Amino acid sequence: KVADLKGLKQGQLRLAAITTAKYFIPRLLGPFCQLYPGIEISLQVTNHERILERMLGNLDDLYIMSQVPEHLDVSYQPFLDNPLVVIAPAYHPLAHEKNIPIERLAQEPFIMREPGSGTRRTVQKLLDEEGIKVKVKLELGSNEAIKQAIAGGLGISILSRHTLLTDASEFTILDVQQFPIKRMWYVVHPAGKQLSIVARTYYDYLIDAAQQFVEKTTNASLKLKTAE
Ligand code: PGA
Repeated sequence: KVADLKGLKQGQLRLAAITTAKYFIPRLLGPFCQLYPGIEISLQVTNHERILERMLGNLDDLYIMSQVPEHLDVSYQPFLDNPLVVIAPAYHPLAHEKNIPIERLAQEPFIMREPGSGTRRTVQKLLDEEGIKVKVKLELGSNEAIKQAIAGGLGISILSRHTLLTDASEFTILDVQQFPIKRMWYVVHPAGKQLSIVARTYYDYLIDAAQQFVEKTTNASLKLKTAE
């Protein structure tokens, strides 16, 4: 329809995503912008708590996150898994062990995300349930900074496996009991809010493209590993 096309050409798309989404959302925006060159996009990348604040302020069209807010009236659609895994430097002594007891985590220097992080909340919940107290050596407000600290030998951490999508070479995923912690990616918006044509178009695109991107990237990095 002509009206739809016009809407698409002039559209604005405001997205907000939790930190881990930065490993694939910007890459998916490239092909989307080529399909719809007239759309202007803003993407805020921040932690779970800040996303909730933005949602309360109705600041964005769509929110990409991995915990659906419990106390807000929202519509949501899961579109991809987002497992949390135990990440260590490639040369870690436990790298080749199988079925490591979760209690073993308490002996390793641990790097934790900041308060307000959804990752932190999920990790803490599991540790509390299991009665495990990890030795937090360092608290950092970014997944990327944590990866650098792991690579630098400061400790291990629990992060989304997607933080390794673009470079996994210096790291290993430890085979610890109870892991991966299963989570999903959701695209969320306030219930009853009418999505713009642009937002609806992106919504449909995202659900399709995210799966394909992650499969392609995971296969590529697996191939790299076996080639080594
Ligand atoms: P975050 O990510 O840790 O950056 O808040 C949110 C989540 O995975 O729940």
